[in-house]
Amino acid sequence: MDDKNMSVETSESVSRRSFIKGVIAAGAVASSSAYLFRSAPLHGQPSEPGSVERLITLNVNGQDRRVDVMKQETLAMTLRYKLGLTGTKLGCDRAECGACTVLVDDVPRYSCSTLTHSVRNKKIVSIEGLAKPDGTLHPVQQAVVEGQGFQCAFCMPGFVMATVGYLKTNPSPTREQLAHGISGNLCRCADYDKILRAMMRGAAYMQNTTT
Ligand code: FES
Ligand code: FES
Repeated sequence: MDDKNMSVETSESVSRRSFIKGVIAAGAVASSSAYLFRSAPLHGQPSEPGSVERLITLNVNGQDRRVDVMKQETLAMTLRYKLGLTGTKLGCDRAECGACTVLVDDVPRYSCSTLTHSVRNKKIVSIEGLAKPDGTLHPVQQAVVEGQGFQCAFCMPGFVMATVGYLKTNPSPTREQLAHGISGNLCRCADYDKILRAMMRGAAYMQNTTT
């Protein structure tokens, strides 16, 4: 290949590479902003007369947090992208998998399907709120660590929150009862036997800490 052809090819490949990089960068920005912001920008939109007040106070993990919330915004989006509580996972984002489970007034709820405005004046607890301020893990978290109850653990925060919520209504369940109680949570790794063993261990630890 002569010098002339080589320089043409080099400049073509460079420009092609630049073009592809540009497309990837633009796509990443577009898709992440669509995921984060869906159809409307989250910030800088003043409340219109008659619309829902956007600047609200939420009680999350024992703290009052002021946050700007659109009326159609889900609790999962608020927790993850406004308050930085990314322990709450988004799996299906359509009330099927339970990865986004948090406690609202001690009841497990799918945060992907809960409007943030509907939980004003309620007590919200996410996975970040379970450990004590000194870092001592909640008994169910401790059981998960000891039992290595998950493979990839993407579903783990949801299972832990669902279990903690269920144990408030039935502190000493049988394995079958607990399995039924947290059956709204799915694990893509299908590691249910290990998960249930860890959760049962957590239930036992909780009884020891309360007796
Ligand atoms: S992300 Fe909420 S149920 Fe799947
Ligand atoms: S351990 Fe991977 S999704 Fe449950």
